[in-house]
Amino acid sequence: MKRVTAFIGSARKQATYNAVREFERNLKLYTEIEFDYVFLKDYRLEFCSGCKLCFDKGEEFCPLQDDRDLLIDKINYSDGVIFATPNYSFHVSAPMKNLLDRLAFVFHRPCFFGKAFTSIVTQGVFGGNSIVRYLGNMGENSGFSVAKGCVLKTLEPITKAAQEKNLREIRKATARFYRVLMSPSPPNPSFFRLMMFRMSRTTMKEMLNDEYCDYRHYKAKGWFESDYYYDVSLNPIKKLAGWIFDFMGRRMSRQS
Ligand SMILES: Cc1cc2nc3c(=O)[nH]c(=O)nc-3n(C[C@H](O)[C@H](O)[C@H](O)COP(=O)(O)O)c2cc1C
Repeated sequence: MKRVTAFIGSARKQATYNAVREFERNLKLYTEIEFDYVFLKDYRLEFCSGCKLCFDKGEEFCPLQDDRDLLIDKINYSDGVIFATPNYSFHVSAPMKNLLDRLAFVFHRPCFFGKAFTSIVTQGVFGGNSIVRYLGNMGENSGFSVAKGCVLKTLEPITKAAQEKNLREIRKATARFYRVLMSPSPPNPSFFRLMMFRMSRTTMKEMLNDEYCDYRHYKAKGWFESDYYYDVSLNPIKKLAGWIFDFMGRRMSRQS
């Protein structure tokens, strides 16, 4: 049975929570799912102090003592995750942003390959689409297979038409997430993702050394030689593009 965990960034059990409940109901129409809720307000997450020890030496050197690793365990335990947040001042809520900051080292050393990700954003009026894009990007940067999230309008008094539109949006988002959740392998990278991987790994190889955690990690994973983070069959055009991105990465690092 697949395990899905929703990380909820609202301090209240209202619009965002209700949206996730509806998502859960829809998902369980497809198949049996173990579905858990994580309310970020119930966990202790300190603010990042910017020391960058997690980037340079390793996440185990982070001086903050909080529930970060507990939350990472919950992601590792899941086959799919939902990041659900209200739109606060045109961005994710503070607890959700704090979680993303505490996970920033994962953007350097992505690890959630093969796990599905989506987002749910609730809002009064405006700004949610860019938040869904942002969260999708964060998901991809962490290695997740991302299904596009949804934006729901919750401005009160909510009309029947708006309510029905929200239900439709959740249904469509659930279908997208389910497809990714059941997919047997992670996706073939887009040109953009391939470029990000090849240029960053090439500059890292040229400019860093064993003193850096990122370098040791890439070396141990074989990422300095591989086509991509994971086994994937690149078509001839992407193979060629990969070599060009490596070349560009080498040139950039020698010029800097
Ligand atoms: C501090 C704060 C800032 C907000 N900023 C926005 C905003 O920029 N755009 C918007 O459309 N709605 C905004 N809203 C409305 C919430 O996104 C909306 O009510 C949301 O559904 C609340 O979710 P909840 O019931 O789970 O807390 C804001 C609400 C609060 C309390």
